[in-house]
Amino acid sequence: MATTKTTAKSTKSTPAEKSTTTKTAAAKTTAAKSSTAGKSTTSSRGIVKAKASAAEGLKELFVDSLKDIYWAEKALVKALPKMAKNAENENLIAGINNHTTETEEQIARLEQVFQIIGEKAVAKKCEAMDGLLKEGQDIMESTEPGPVRDAGIIAASQKIEHYEIATYGTLCAFAKTLGYDDAAEILHITLGEEKQADITLTEAAYNTINFDAAEADENEVE
Ligand SMILES: [Fe+2]
Ligand SMILES: [Fe+2]
Repeated sequence: MATTKTTAKSTKSTPAEKSTTTKTAAAKTTAAKSSTAGKSTTSSRGIVKAKASAAEGLKELFVDSLKDIYWAEKALVKALPKMAKNAENENLIAGINNHTTETEEQIARLEQVFQIIGEKAVAKKCEAMDGLLKEGQDIMESTEPGPVRDAGIIAASQKIEHYEIATYGTLCAFAKTLGYDDAAEILHITLGEEKQADITLTEAAYNTINFDAAEADENEVE
């Protein structure tokens, strides 16, 4: 990417090209202004306008995604104990508590990855995790404590795990493509934990919780 930029700068422009360059620069300024003002970032043709700080290469996108999941894990480590407190099934509580410990380790692992790639560990708000956690809170508020709330907690938690699985899968692929093999290996450990957490939740649901929750339905009908 850096090479392309240098080449573009060193090439002399014809008057026609100059006019295009000026137009492009003007368009960029407009895009930057519109995003700063918090107004629509989509053009009339449906093309999303990039912010002035938009990533230009895969490395930048990788770093950005790391900041995003760093925020998400930090938010999750605070939310998980609350979920455990609201759960009643012992296996589910144990599963959530175990994953809280894992999440703390995952945060430390992300800090290691930042160090490997020579970047500062900075958290950037993850809108997706923020929404998933709000949904989890909403499910708890919408259910009575017991098997039904437990089923709701599992549902919300599995959405979170699937989001994390997708995220770490992508991060592993980015790290490998960029040649950060050590970082990819570290991210792969976390990916494995997220997959296992999802399996544990499925087992908890199938073994007892969903059946107990369905029984609660029958009792209500009687
Ligand atoms: Fe995680
Ligand atoms: Fe997780």
